[in-house]
Amino acid sequence: MTPPTILDVRDLAVHFRQGRKNPPLHAVDGVTFAVREGETLGLVGESGSGKSTIGRAILGLNPVHSGQVRFEDRDITRANARIRRGISSRLQVVFQDPYSSLNPARTIGQTLAEPLLVHEKLGKAEMMTRVTAMLERVGMPADAADRYPGQFSGGQRQRIAIARALMLSPKLVICDEPVSALDLSIQAQVMNLLADLQQELSLSYLFIAHDLPVVRHLSHRILVLYRGQVLESGDAGAVYGNPAHPYTQALIAAAPEPDPTGQRARRQARITAGTGTAAAPNSTGCVFAHRCPRVIDVCHEQRPALVTVGPDPVAGSERSVACHRVVELPAPSLASVD
Ligand SMILES: Nc1ncnc2c1ncn2[C@@H]1O[C@H](COP(=O)(O)OP(=O)(O)O)[C@@H](O)[C@H]1O
Ligand SMILES: [Mg+2]
Repeated sequence: MTPPTILDVRDLAVHFRQGRKNPPLHAVDGVTFAVREGETLGLVGESGSGKSTIGRAILGLNPVHSGQVRFEDRDITRANARIRRGISSRLQVVFQDPYSSLNPARTIGQTLAEPLLVHEKLGKAEMMTRVTAMLERVGMPADAADRYPGQFSGGQRQRIAIARALMLSPKLVICDEPVSALDLSIQAQVMNLLADLQQELSLSYLFIAHDLPVVRHLSHRILVLYRGQVLESGDAGAVYGNPAHPYTQALIAAAPEPDPTGQRARRQARITAGTGTAAAPNSTGCVFAHRCPRVIDVCHEQRPALVTVGPDPVAGSERSVACHRVVELPAPSLASVD
C-alpha cells in the first residue's frame, strides 16, 4: 500500500527579477512532485538548477509565482507567519553550511532548547533532559550542551544542526545539501545517521544534493532537475542504474565510480555533454538542447512534456522523462543495477 502524501508540490514556479531591462529568471519552472510518509525524495541537479529555491519556496522563504505547495493536506503556498509558526514543529530544515547555520554566541544547549521554549512549556530540568537525549541520539557527547559551535568540527556541527531540526519531532525535514561541505569520510557518517533517524522516527526527507551517488544512497525516488525543470523522475535505483534522459546519463557519467566494472559500463554510456554556454533563458525548446548529444531540430522548437515511459524494466515502478528522443526506456545495461 502506498503511504499517504505529506508534501505535495504542484506546478511550482518561482521567478526572480534580473534588473528592469531583462525578463525575470524562471528559477523554478513548473515543478510537480509528492513526498510520502517515511520516504526520501532526492532532488538532484547541478549548481544553479533551482534545488534550493524549491526548498526555500516550500519553507516560505522564496515567493511563489504560481503553483501550489500542500503540507499535510493543507495549502501553505502563501501561508502567513502565524501559520508558518504553527507548522514549523512538523516541517524542519537542515542547511548545507554547518559553519553559518548555528549561532556562534549561544551554547549548543541554548540552541537546542530554543524550539522547546517556543513550542512547548517545559520545566528547565525536563528541557535539559530532552536536549541531552537528542545530543546522544545524534552521536554527540552530553557535555556538548555547555560548549559553543566554534569548538566543533563541520561534521559535528552538522550533527548538532540535525539535532536542532529534530527537537520537536518533525514529520518532514528538508535537507539542502547537508553533507556537501563535509569531507568524504564524514559525509558517509552523517548520511548513515540520517538514514537511522528516518527509520527510528518515521521521518520523511526532501533530500537535495548536486551529487547523484549521494542522493541515490538515501533516496527512494529521485527527481532530476535542470534549469528549474524536472527532466526525469523515478525509483532511485532504477534512475541511477538505467538513466533514460541524456542529462541524467551525463550526471552519472560525470560522477566518480569506485567499481571498475561499473566504470567500464559508465565509459560506454558516457555522453559528450559539454559544460554548456549560456543559452537563452526561458526559451521555448528543451532546456537541455544546447548541451544534448542527441539533439534534433524539434528539441530547439518545443519543450518536451514530462511523460510516463514506464513501467520501469528494473523497478516495475513509474518513470517519467521529458525528452523528445525517449519513446521507451532503454534496456538495463549497467552492472550496478540493484
Ligand atoms: N534570491 C535570489 N535572487 C535572484 N536570483 C536567485 C535568488 N536565489 C536564487 N537565484 C537564482 O536562481 C537560480 C537557482 O538557484 P538555486 O535554487 O540556488 O540553485 P541550486 O540550489 O540548484 O544550486 C540560480 O540561477 C540563482 O542564481
Ligand atoms: Mg543550492
